Amino acid sequence: MRAVDLILKKKNGEPMTTQEINCLVNGFVNNEVPDYQMAAWMMAVCFQGMDSAETGALTEAMIRSGAQVDLSALPGVKVDKHSTGGVGDTTTLIVAPLVAACGGTVAKMSGRGLGHTGGTLDKLESVPGVNIEIPIERFFEIVKETGLCVMGQTENLVPADKRMYALRDVTGTVSSIPLIASSVMSKKIAAGADAIVLDVKMGTGAFMQTLPEARELARTMVEIGRHVGRRTVAIITDMNQPLGMAVGNGLEVREAIELLSGKIPAGDPLYEVSLLLASQMLLLAGLAADETEAHAKLSCALESGAGLNKLRAMLAALGGDVRCIEEPDLLCTVREKIPVTLGRSGYISAMRAEQIGVAAQLLGAGRATKADRIDPAVGLVMHKRQGMYVAGDEPVATLYMNDPAYAEEAAALLRSALTLSKETPGHAPMVYDVIS
Ligand code: URA
Ligand code: CA
Repeated sequence: MRAVDLILKKKNGEPMTTQEINCLVNGFVNNEVPDYQMAAWMMAVCFQGMDSAETGALTEAMIRSGAQVDLSALPGVKVDKHSTGGVGDTTTLIVAPLVAACGGTVAKMSGRGLGHTGGTLDKLESVPGVNIEIPIERFFEIVKETGLCVMGQTENLVPADKRMYALRDVTGTVSSIPLIASSVMSKKIAAGADAIVLDVKMGTGAFMQTLPEARELARTMVEIGRHVGRRTVAIITDMNQPLGMAVGNGLEVREAIELLSGKIPAGDPLYEVSLLLASQMLLLAGLAADETEAHAKLSCALESGAGLNKLRAMLAALGGDVRCIEEPDLLCTVREKIPVTLGRSGYISAMRAEQIGVAAQLLGAGRATKADRIDPAVGLVMHKRQGMYVAGDEPVATLYMNDPAYAEEAAALLRSALTLSKETPGHAPMVYDVIS
């Protein structure tokens, strides 16, 4: 089978067989198919798409390119969650402890942030002492002791995705639903969970900018999960503004601690999305019969402090200094805090979440390239949400920084990320759909 014939087949919109897809992915991983042919094929996929049989075959071929994690030695239904990436999205650090406090087993591999989106590993490392590069044996021990652990992806997890993603990044082929779905699901399935809850972000800070696209991505991923026998549910949530108020690593951990300490009320978007994700996880794990029961159990874990205790236990097991649980301000001690005002008044009708993420990145909270170093304490805290009124001299956000070099640029970017209107705008919904 020649790679060029497979490229032509996809280019002409003909469906590919499982054998052909295997041949292409195996050839690529074995260096028989060069980067330029893989890139050309992925560009053809961007234009022609793939049906569910092809997408399933691609995902399975990608999984087989590396070693799968076997979680069967751990008790209960292992339940994972994944977000397609957003700004101010610290749900993992809230949801994993709450689910563990309700009897769930969360053995999770997470990633780092790149560009305007954050990553759970970077957030965890903002706690002094935390080491997420642990041997898998230690990961298993921590899950057995505490019910949860988050670690970095094992080296050999879906190498096909590492190489395909690097190519997609530089050939304009990231934004294809079957390519995103197979990339995400191959990693989730290879990481071993029995059940997967997906948070598909939709809006200005997300890959998917419209509801029909987000629905299609969600359905495609749920279908892949079903295809390989993993219980999978997707929720579609709003990313037209940062999910939490904090954007930055230590700042987001502080917000997660505040939420688990009962200091953030119901109705808040971070609270609502976290509880919805956690309740779907309890349902998939068979730990609640319906949403009402799931919600009741989670509220109890929140109010009793059991969720916060689980976060403390995991941080301690990873070597972290747990004084931050009582004193979360320790995580964001910076030289300078600067309020940002707009100099104009009105209702915030729109926020460009991606720009707000980039503003935090400029202050040192994120990486422009994989080699960049992160300052764990810096970032920004929003004081206003979409739909709220802001007076011209009222701070809309506070910048947390150690190096003022980019302060002006970050403040300007933040200001330009907000659109004001004279009339009260409608509130953006927090959750658009649940797809199972
Ligand atoms: N996240 C992934 O892991 N893969 C994609 O293709 C897009 C987002
Ligand atoms: Ca994330």
